Amino acid sequence: MQTICKSPTDLTNEELEGIIDLIMDYRPTTRIEIRERLLNSRAISIAIIDNKVVGTATLKIPNDIYADNAFLKAVSIYEYNDFPFELGYMVVLPNYRNLRIASQLVALLCSTFENENIFAVTKANNNSSIALKLKLGFIETGKEFKDRKTIDDLKLFIKLRKQ
Ligand SMILES: CC(C)(COP(=O)(O)OP(=O)(O)OC[C@H]1O[C@@H](n2cnc3c(N)ncnc32)[C@H](O)[C@@H]1OP(=O)(O)O)[C@@H](O)C(=O)NCCC(=O)NCCS
Repeated sequence: MQTICKSPTDLTNEELEGIIDLIMDYRPTTRIEIRERLLNSRAISIAIIDNKVVGTATLKIPNDIYADNAFLKAVSIYEYNDFPFELGYMVVLPNYRNLRIASQLVALLCSTFENENIFAVTKANNNSSIALKLKLGFIETGKEFKDRKTIDDLKLFIKLRKQ
């Protein structure tokens, strides 16, 4: 397996389409919206096996209103203005899960951007997503809050930059 971290503009078209395919499988949204968010992100890590993208994670540039809301709704002691990047679009193909692929992809993004504060929002019942974040140094901040569109309970996690 090969894991790489790239700026979105350095992705090949094949890689970009492979990432969108993965994200489409768990996010009810359009290819156009995902492509736009990916191309406006800071960096994307991908895992490749046999020329196929089997896992991905992205450092997004957060939308201000959404990020502000997450920190406010969680009643966090931290301020969204101090967090330039959001970890998201983290997906691994079902047959490749629990092999630590997402852990490697997130670790790669975090080490590349170790001088930046990063936040992430996770469904409160997504145990594997929460387990891997805690393992990689993210901490939960504030209290659970409701998603703006669904009834899901969400949790806010942060990873502070290297001191
Ligand atoms: C979340 C996801 C990306 C994790 O990918 P992955 O490659 O399987 O993750 P990893 O193997 O690196 O790590 C998963 C960790 O969770 C643990 N885990 C798995 N199921 C668990 C459970 N039910 N309860 C607690 N921990 C669990 C694993 O043991 C592993 O920890 P370990 O490395 O200490 O053993 C993958 O499950 C996925 O694509 N889910 C669908 C999309 C999604 O929910 N994305 C996250 C949005 S926030």
